[in-house]
Amino acid sequence: DLAAAGTTGPVTGPVVRPRRLRTTPAMRRMVAETQVAPRQLVLPLFVREGLTEPRPIASMPGVVQHTRSSLLAAVSEAAELGLGGVMLFGIPETRDATGSAGIDPAGILNLAITDVVGEVGDALSVMSDLCLDEFTDHGHCGLLTPDGRVDNDRTLAAYAEMARAQAHAGVDMVGPSGMMDGQVAVVRAALDASEHTDVSILAYSAKYASAFYGPFREAVDSCLEGDRRTYQQDPANAVEGVREALLDVAEGADIVMVKPALAYLDVVRRVRDAVDVPVAAYNISGEYAMVEAAAANGWIDREPAILETLGSIHRAGADVILTYWAAEAARLLRA
Ligand code: PBG
Repeated sequence: DLAAAGTTGPVTGPVVRPRRLRTTPAMRRMVAETQVAPRQLVLPLFVREGLTEPRPIASMPGVVQHTRSSLLAAVSEAAELGLGGVMLFGIPETRDATGSAGIDPAGILNLAITDVVGEVGDALSVMSDLCLDEFTDHGHCGLLTPDGRVDNDRTLAAYAEMARAQAHAGVDMVGPSGMMDGQVAVVRAALDASEHTDVSILAYSAKYASAFYGPFREAVDSCLEGDRRTYQQDPANAVEGVREALLDVAEGADIVMVKPALAYLDVVRRVRDAVDVPVAAYNISGEYAMVEAAAANGWIDREPAILETLGSIHRAGADVILTYWAAEAARLLRA
């Protein structure tokens, strides 16, 4: 043993030394187990009807609500950087109880889809949020019953129409994010029946009722009062997240997503191990805001914190990451 060795001759240290593989940058680079690539990053973008200039979102420094034309500059930059795609969110000028501006072919999100596809063609996967919350005057993700509960099955009919409208506008992939039961099956059927069999589905499968969505609610000027706990998942549950992902695969999801990412890396890993489709994770607004706020105060080193954040989500099992840092991270990863 070591103590005995010390008394009888030269000190002998450990035989196994993991540190040898950490001695130089070249050595560390060679043995790195994972590295996230720009092609795996998807940039969420907000476009707001009636804006004449991009409007900053205070709780998300560096992120803006785009005009229709500033959106095009952002997506062509995303294509040049080799990102995987963009996820579009629309903010309408007027809202109503049924979210009709989300379905209207002349609604801001559908117009933006056509603009963006015209700008980038096949260079990016163009995705759109398929949900009513940005378009309803009550801010919920679905239609309400007379007594104010979210009506699952009437909402499904609205999602089917919204899917058809987005596909007609030219989107490559729709992202149903409302956590209604059966939403993937209904969206798949609506797309197939309208000759959009090539439009794919990124299912928000395990989407938790999270406190970390706070800044997003400012980003889309959300009208929501109360919470989404009757449809989004309880943060206490991981098995249920796997169940939701398996259901979505069975309903025809092409990619399943876990959201948020950082507080749910265990769910990302479990879902990765349970399904045979790509897994995405959404590095959400609150996760972005925490790093930006700490960095602005000089409390953490911003760029390494961004790369460590995205690296951790990738290491946990995400093949695709939605992140507001996508463009910047692509630049850092290339440098
Ligand atoms: C719902 C939707 C939300 C986000 C993406 N899609 C908000 C919510 O469920 O309240 C959150 C994204 C983020 O926080 O970055 N359409």
